[in-house]
Amino acid sequence: MSTEKVEIFDTTLRDGEQVPGCKLNTAQKLKIASRLDEIGVNVIEAGFPVSSPGDFKSVTEISKLVKNATVCALTRAVKNDIEVAAEALKYAKYPRIHTGIGTSDTHIKYKFNSTREEIIERAIMAVSYAKSFVEDVEFYAEDAGRTDNEFLARVCTAAVKAGATVLNIPDTTGYCLPEEYGQKIKYLKENVKGIENARLSCHCHNDLGMATANAIAGVANGARQIECTINGIGERAGNTALEEVVMILRQHPHLNLMTDINPKLLFDTSQMVSREMGMYVQPNKAIVGANAFAHSSGIHQDGMIKNKQTYEIIDPADVGVTESAIILTARSGRAALAYKAKKMGYELTKLQLDTVYREFLNYADLRKEVVDNDIHVIMELSRKRNIAIA
Ligand code: KIV
Ligand code: ZN
Repeated sequence: MSTEKVEIFDTTLRDGEQVPGCKLNTAQKLKIASRLDEIGVNVIEAGFPVSSPGDFKSVTEISKLVKNATVCALTRAVKNDIEVAAEALKYAKYPRIHTGIGTSDTHIKYKFNSTREEIIERAIMAVSYAKSFVEDVEFYAEDAGRTDNEFLARVCTAAVKAGATVLNIPDTTGYCLPEEYGQKIKYLKENVKGIENARLSCHCHNDLGMATANAIAGVANGARQIECTINGIGERAGNTALEEVVMILRQHPHLNLMTDINPKLLFDTSQMVSREMGMYVQPNKAIVGANAFAHSSGIHQDGMIKNKQTYEIIDPADVGVTESAIILTARSGRAALAYKAKKMGYELTKLQLDTVYREFLNYADLRKEVVDNDIHVIMELSRKRNIAIA
């Protein structure tokens, strides 16, 4: 079976930037867009041009700057939004308009006070109108996660007939289970007429912590684009994290799916986005968190010192992290202490290690972590107890 490509659609600058406190100015957006282009993202969602003059300007400047990726702009199914997006994208080498409308009964009733038939008409209008400006039109069926599959297939069929090149199936509220989301994609693959002319895209939110699992279930069932953000930032609990899906596909080659992303830039890109947005990365964040390659319990440290494969499935260097860390705490064992001490130039005999370890435990019990400087102090304390240490 040959390996197929999953396109990475990054929405850090649109869904990610919607996070309160994460707003970026144009210069910051350009800096991040340039890195996204360098790292190998296929589509950069640059913003929602009709939303503000600042966002319009950012999309225009990003369109001028980006060399390789498609530059995409979001709209509602509203003619003016589409005209403004087309104008902002006019310098893009590869422009894409991303337009759509809510399709769940909840959205139809409460947001639009409309009917299913009217929603299909508005979807057709939006896609056809966008198509009069650009060739590449992505249609989103907002709240597709809670839209019944039969109706969703009807909307998608109409969007493809109107010229949509990509069908975005957002789990807007992060509601779906992975199995359910995967089955939704499979159903659309089998029931949307003309689907061979369009790419299905997964856009998953993390309200129940399943955004990444759902996106993977989507591509395992035939979707070929994932919409994601660096560090998983996004509305409420966030979106699928780019670094997670990229590494999942690399670590599971039997899925026969790959991306164009250069993983060696993942950690640095995560840090850059965190700095620019002023949004810190939780230490236990998969792939890019400060603890993603840190080992602190004695049992794990002992295994790691013997062979890294015991507790690491990813070589940290593959994602741009210098090396894994052995963190000394009161839960650490002799092996970790001896390893750290040796790295700092202390060669300990078995007898010395026993005594230094006792000193270490007393010291560590009073602290959250024992850092390099503390090791010198522990050695000095041990020395005072007349233990000759080299
Ligand atoms: O979550 C969502 O439904 C969206 C759409 C606007 C694509 O972000
Ligand atoms: Zn979203």
